[in-house]
Order: sequence, then C-alpha cells, then structure tokens
Amino acid sequence: MNEKEIFDAMLQGFQLLSLMVAGALMVVGSPYGSQTQYQGMLAVDGKLAWILMELVSPLALLSLYAWPLLSIKHFAEYTFSDFLVCLWLVHYVHRAVIYPLRQPSRKPMHLGIMLSAVAFNMLNGYLNGRWLAQYAPEELQAKSMEFAWLHLNQVLWGLLLFVAGMAGNIYHDNILMNIRLCRKTKRGHSIYSVPQGGLFQVVSCPHFLCEIVEWFGFAVLSGSPAAWTFWLNVVCNLVPRAYFIHKWYQATFADYPQNRKAIVPYLL
Ligand SMILES: NC(=O)c1ccc[n+]([C@@H]2O[C@H](COP(=O)([O-])OP(=O)(O)OC[C@H]3O[C@@H](n4cnc5c(N)ncnc54)[C@H](OP(=O)(O)O)[C@@H]3O)[C@@H](O)[C@H]2O)c1
Repeated sequence: MNEKEIFDAMLQGFQLLSLMVAGALMVVGSPYGSQTQYQGMLAVDGKLAWILMELVSPLALLSLYAWPLLSIKHFAEYTFSDFLVCLWLVHYVHRAVIYPLRQPSRKPMHLGIMLSAVAFNMLNGYLNGRWLAQYAPEELQAKSMEFAWLHLNQVLWGLLLFVAGMAGNIYHDNILMNIRLCRKTKRGHSIYSVPQGGLFQVVSCPHFLCEIVEWFGFAVLSGSPAAWTFWLNVVCNLVPRAYFIHKWYQATFADYPQNRKAIVPYLL
C-alpha cells in the first residue's frame, strides 16, 4: 500500500467511525459538561482539558503544512491552500485558546473524553493537513486570487457560510458565558439557566448549529474530501449532543419554552 492508499483508507475509516460514534452517542449520551456529574479521580480541570485537546488540531495540521510559521511571502504569492490553512488557524486559535480563557468556568472533564478528543483531533488534523499539503488538486496550489476568480461562486458561498457560522457560534457561546458570569458570583460554578436571545429562541443549541454551518462553509470552500469528512464528524458529534442537552433542559426547567427544538429550527 502506498501512502495515498493508506490516506484514503483512513479517510473512509474516519467516515465509518463518525457514523458509529453518532450511534454510540445516541445510546450512552455525550458525557461532559451539563451531561455528566462525574467528579472522580480521572476528572481533569475543564479549561485545561479543553485547551490541551483542541490545540492538537492546529498543531497536527501545521506539522504537515508548515508554511505559515516558517515562511513570510509576498501577499501575491500565497496560494489558496495557504488561505484555507489560515482559516483553520483562525478557528482553532479561538477555539483552543481564546474561548476557554474567556469562559468564567468549565466543568471538569473525564480523562477518557479528553483523550478521545485528542485522538480525534490528531487524525482530523493529519487528514486535512496532508490533503492540503499533498493531495489537493494543483489548481488549489494556484495563487489565491487566481483561484478565487476562477471559482467565484464556490469561494463566495463557502466564505460567507464559514464567517457567518463562526460569528454565530461565538455570539451564542457568549450568551452562555454571560449566564455563567452573572450567576457564578452568587452561587459558585456550573450554574445553568435557560438561555435567551438570538437563535436560542428557536433551538436549544444554536452554537452547535452555527458550528455545523461554519464547517460546511469550509468544506464548500476547499472541496476537500478530508473537510467533508470532518463536517460529517461534526454533525455526528453535535446532533446527538444537542438532542441530549435539549432533553436535559426540558427535564430540568419546568418552564422551558415548548416551541424550542434541539438544533434545527422548527424541525429537530
Ligand atoms: N467541532 C466539533 O465537533 C465540536 C465538538 C464539541 C464542541 N464544539 C464547540 O465547542 C463549544 C463548546 O461546546 P460544548 O459541548 O462544551 O457546549 P455546551 O455543553 O453548550 O457548553 C458550553 C459552555 O457553556 C456552559 N453552559 C452550557 N449550558 C449552559 C447554561 N444553560 N447556562 C449556563 N452555562 C451553560 C458550559 O458550562 P459547563 O462546562 O459547566 O457545563 C460550558 O462552559 C461550542 O461552540 C461547540 O460548537 C465543537
């Protein structure tokens, strides 16, 4: 087997694994944050666990695609692949560093959950980094602006969805942070209440919905099988989690708005 055949096999394995994980999550739930009470010896500080597991993704991608740290090019020399790497880094600098440091508190996480996220991020970073660095079609290695002009619709729609998804994700994450900020001082950590505002009026997990839109945009932009596989994985992770969080809200808060769905407005 050559490396490309191994790469393709890993990609297919990752797709299969994502579907199996979705099935498993529907059975066992998504046991971190509000969905668990675990406080045993294997509980890792919530913020530390989050930073460690999420940093793996940009590091894995960068180790295969070392451009941004290693070379300063003239603006006109950047390729479209370079641009996609930048978007990946923008997302993960926020997700792995800014987001957890801004959070008033995070529940401790079971070591096993953290390690499975590390393994996932390593595989995902490898597949996306290797595809961008090695297996992307030659036209993606063309100069950014040339590619953008040739594929204007793909680039505009992909970028719009990526930016709108990321902005929506941050906006709704902020609403959750503000709840914690207001109530933490009164009663300590992990106080939950019913979020209000934005798409929380229609779904329990708009931050997840926006994350799905964001990575859909990235997949459209790149057309990469690795990015589409990542998107599938995001859906397989976040839809079951949203389902359980939604059920938990309904069971926890007697006055929980009845018209709210879990993740897709008016539908699911
Ligand atoms: N790409 C992916 O596959 C993927 C996977 C997972 C997460 N993510 C993203 O990572 C971010 C965090 O995900 P998550 O699963 O941790 O989300 P989450 O369960 O909704 O929790 C987010 C944060 O808000 C707090 N929180 C949740 N509900 C609250 C409420 N009703 N009142 C007050 N505080 C509340 C949580 O505190 P506690 O920690 O104390 O519960 C946690 O710190 C999201 O933006 C998500 O889209 C992406």
